Amino acid sequence: MLKFILNDTDISTDQLAGSTVLDFVRYHKDLKGTKIGCREGDCGACTVLVGELIDDEVRYRTMTSCLMPLANAAGKHIVTIEGINPANRELTPVQQAMVDESGTQCGFCTVGFVMSLTGFCVDGSANSAEMAISAIDGNICRCTGYKSIERAAVRLSEQVAVSSEQYVPEYFATIQDRLRQLRGSDCSPLTAYSSLFVGGGTDLYVQRHDAMSESEATHLFYDDELRTIRDAGEYVEIGASVTVTDLLESPVMNAIFPDLYKHLKLVSSTPIRNMATLAGNFVNASPIGDMTVWFLALDAEITLSTPPYEGGVAAASADGVVLSFRDMKLRDLYLGYKQLAKQPDEIITSIRFRKPAGDHRFNFEKVCKRTYLDIASVNTAISLTIRSTPGEDWIPPALSSPPYEGGVDAAPGGRGGSLAVEHTIIAAHVAAGGVAPIPLYLRQTSEFLAGKTVNAETIAAANEIMQSEISPISDVRGTDQYKRLLLRQLFRAHFVEIFHQL
Ligand SMILES: Cc1cc2nc3c(=O)[nH]c(=O)nc-3n(C[C@H](O)[C@H](O)[C@H](O)COP(=O)(O)OP(=O)(O)OC[C@H]3O[C@@H](n4cnc5c(N)ncnc54)[C@H](O)[C@@H]3O)c2cc1C
Ligand code: FES
Ligand code: FES
Repeated sequence: MLKFILNDTDISTDQLAGSTVLDFVRYHKDLKGTKIGCREGDCGACTVLVGELIDDEVRYRTMTSCLMPLANAAGKHIVTIEGINPANRELTPVQQAMVDESGTQCGFCTVGFVMSLTGFCVDGSANSAEMAISAIDGNICRCTGYKSIERAAVRLSEQVAVSSEQYVPEYFATIQDRLRQLRGSDCSPLTAYSSLFVGGGTDLYVQRHDAMSESEATHLFYDDELRTIRDAGEYVEIGASVTVTDLLESPVMNAIFPDLYKHLKLVSSTPIRNMATLAGNFVNASPIGDMTVWFLALDAEITLSTPPYEGGVAAASADGVVLSFRDMKLRDLYLGYKQLAKQPDEIITSIRFRKPAGDHRFNFEKVCKRTYLDIASVNTAISLTIRSTPGEDWIPPALSSPPYEGGVDAAPGGRGGSLAVEHTIIAAHVAAGGVAPIPLYLRQTSEFLAGKTVNAETIAAANEIMQSEISPISDVRGTDQYKRLLLRQLFRAHFVEIFHQL
């Protein structure tokens, strides 16, 4: 039996684990407040809040219920609009803000916006206006032109910062204990092993929505074992079902990547980031998968394991045979367009990358038709380890004085001569998407950069090598020539970004 909490009700159901949460709440529970728009994760009309125990605290995240298998609700608190409406028929502060700022017209999108903004209000870690607006980056409105909704979002961010209003009903106070009890019980939907693996479902449910509802599958998303991010000394170890949001909120990752927020905000939208797993991105094998390109530039390795599994984690088989695991470089997973060096019954269990030592710099660039909620025309990531040595007229930073230009010390106080520091690349890994049938690790470009001094000549020469490594095709996202030009420019942008900071 699949068990979870829906609003204030404990649910125990034998509905198909592959059917969607959207269909369950609308057609089995008659909760019609949650709307159906695109069924592709794009419009946000079906947004629900999903509460789960993280470090024994209940954390709520928004998800698009149209792409969410019921299996992924196991052990969670699913909240629809009916679950936040106050009993006395008054409006919640979020609903009130939407009314006061004229944030609703036809009303079709409104429930989705209210759920996203409620998610923002109950998330104690975010209270800036920017975060409030970014909380609704997965919601589309065809009527208002957004400004009125943005005003409501900004107003809520100000309210959240100063007052402790009640954004959700009182029964939410009981959820922590109820989720603990659920965790202790068997709420898993796993009945039989299937070699159809489902992570967050954000690719599978778009590609084959109807078939997924009926299919037997091994669901990996709810498995805590596959959701950890661990500093393991020399390496960072990441569970295969870690989501983009898990990365974004990880202290381990934030300590290594200062621009993590800026980079990962370019990936899909808040609700999709809350569902999209790393392994799902890798195995989907889209040539423009953002997280794939990101981890290729970290020269990441993956661990694959063979069945049988228990709850998504490999276990000894009934006859006591211990399972086999094998490791490979992520870059070796891709053989050709959507062709993987992986057996159909192998799952990715973990991902690891070497913890950068010394002066490490990382950058990610992505160009798409619109800045957010779009897949890339071309994306690229670079990881550099650098050694910096002082030039002849160099003054140690503590002794130098402004003005500085572009992060490189300009000649202070009218004193002539360059104070530039020379940067040598000790190691480089470069990856790009949208320029080949596979997400591409640029081996020759990476090898060329190692040992080179950073200057215009090095960048130009590396660009020429890179152009010989890629083979873009013309499609809806641009011509082959345009994609070559994009990658050339984005490669230069890496150096502007990285050396601007130095
Ligand atoms: C609206 C929208 C916007 C999007 N925007 C972006 C974007 O900006 N950038 C981007 O890169 N992607 C984007 N995507 C695509 C998608 O969200 C990502 O590819 C995501 O990482 C897929 O992960 P998932 O867990 O949802 O995959 P699922 O759909 O669950 O699975 C995808 C594939 O991976 C396999 N799989 C999953 N886990 C494992 C495992 N552990 N071992 C072996 N196989 C496994 C599945 O069998 C399936 O073949 C978007 C999708 C949507 C719907
Ligand atoms: S119905 Fe559009 S995102 Fe779910
Ligand atoms: S109010 Fe009509 S779609 Fe938003």
